[in-house]
Amino acid sequence: MDAVRIYGGNCLSGQTKIQGSKNASLPILAATLLIDGTCEITNCPDISDVYHMLRLLESLGCVVSREADAIRIDTKGVAECDMPADSVGVMRSSIMLLGALLARMGEVAMEYPGGCVIGRRPIDQHLYTLRRMGVEITEGPEGFCARAGRLHGAVHELPFVSVGVTENLVLAAVLAEGETVIHPAAREPEIQALCEFLVSAGGKIEGAGTDRLVIEGVKKLHPVRFRVPADRIVAGTWLAACLCAGGRVFLEDAPCGQMESVLACAENLGVNLRRLPEGLLVEGRACKGLKEALVTAVYPGFPTDLQSLFMAVIAFSGHGGRIEETVFENRFRIVQELQKMGADIRVEGNRATVRGGRKLHNTIVEAKELRGGAALVVAALAAEGTGIVTNRHFIDRGYEDIARSLRDLGAEIELT
Ligand code: UD1
Repeated sequence: MDAVRIYGGNCLSGQTKIQGSKNASLPILAATLLIDGTCEITNCPDISDVYHMLRLLESLGCVVSREADAIRIDTKGVAECDMPADSVGVMRSSIMLLGALLARMGEVAMEYPGGCVIGRRPIDQHLYTLRRMGVEITEGPEGFCARAGRLHGAVHELPFVSVGVTENLVLAAVLAEGETVIHPAAREPEIQALCEFLVSAGGKIEGAGTDRLVIEGVKKLHPVRFRVPADRIVAGTWLAACLCAGGRVFLEDAPCGQMESVLACAENLGVNLRRLPEGLLVEGRACKGLKEALVTAVYPGFPTDLQSLFMAVIAFSGHGGRIEETVFENRFRIVQELQKMGADIRVEGNRATVRGGRKLHNTIVEAKELRGGAALVVAALAAEGTGIVTNRHFIDRGYEDIARSLRDLGAEIELT
């Protein structure tokens, strides 16, 4: 079965190590295409999105090998510039290969990328900004063809902050002729990791972590070994689990410095936290209401990827709260499933009002996307009875083994 079974009602106790970041490893794996030779990427999470990215790289001619959490990618044989439709369709990050492949091959044909159905997720800004760097793009109903000689730098004043567009432009600019400026650039830690990777390979990038990136194109990058940082969204997921179920857990390697908006929200909900160099110690459960609405925003604001997890938390906490989603328009698909469990949630446009203090009960619920699926598992930990979350494949996109990690934390849970 493609599901997770949860025996709810237990307090958590234990410790787990946070896996490497999905959203950092995907663009870094794409970036290896810019380097002739073999790169080694360590701490890469063993998740289905990484599997699909590696399949895409292999289909382009890379030789990929994996030993424990280290992935070696030899790009010497890259010859193809058409990507297999099934991998492109399943994952939004396949768009990341566009900037990198154009820089490497000068030509790309691909279908429109897939990913979680959390909004319209257009790629208009990806295409518009690449055109400004000398790329000719012909769009069709199913996909598009992009062609360029050596890309040239450009000054990009973007209409809004986009993680994906910033990453694609960094990948296109690092080997382009001349200087590229990206403003406002996304400041997410995953972009900082991508820039660190490229700089260690000989790229010239200034301003990583600020809203203005300046990239001076270089002729060549050299192979490197790079360690992917820990996943702040996975750490936030286990934090939400403790907030729902209560207990005392240690999240080894949790990147506390990247989680301040989330940690502050958790503290407002009444939990005790200790930010340590080795990770995060969490004690207690959500027992207070949110004084102000939880509003998602670009980094360093509250991440949209943890919004549904905190919706599950607030549905249990005594006083409830309000949520406003400002990044993706379709991030409330979990509401109907939480309602099946007895939650009291009202949605109006991009706002949700959650009445807390309900005793939720377990039943069969359906994951409809990655983080919403994880949120249903987390909610089930604290609900009464036995719950099943179906469509586990969505959760497997971003979590190595959600049952194993939560068992480390004392939950009774299994994959089925
Ligand atoms: C990335 C993350 C995702 C996270 C999101 C926001 C990866 C693999 N995914 O997604 O987990 O939730 O950042 O932090 O890293 N937009 C356009 N046109 C474009 C591009 C984007 O209108 O050409 C819109 C999107 O529909 C969305 C907003 O811009 O409303 C922000 O999206 P973006 O930051 O690009 O998210 P992703 O890179 O897709």
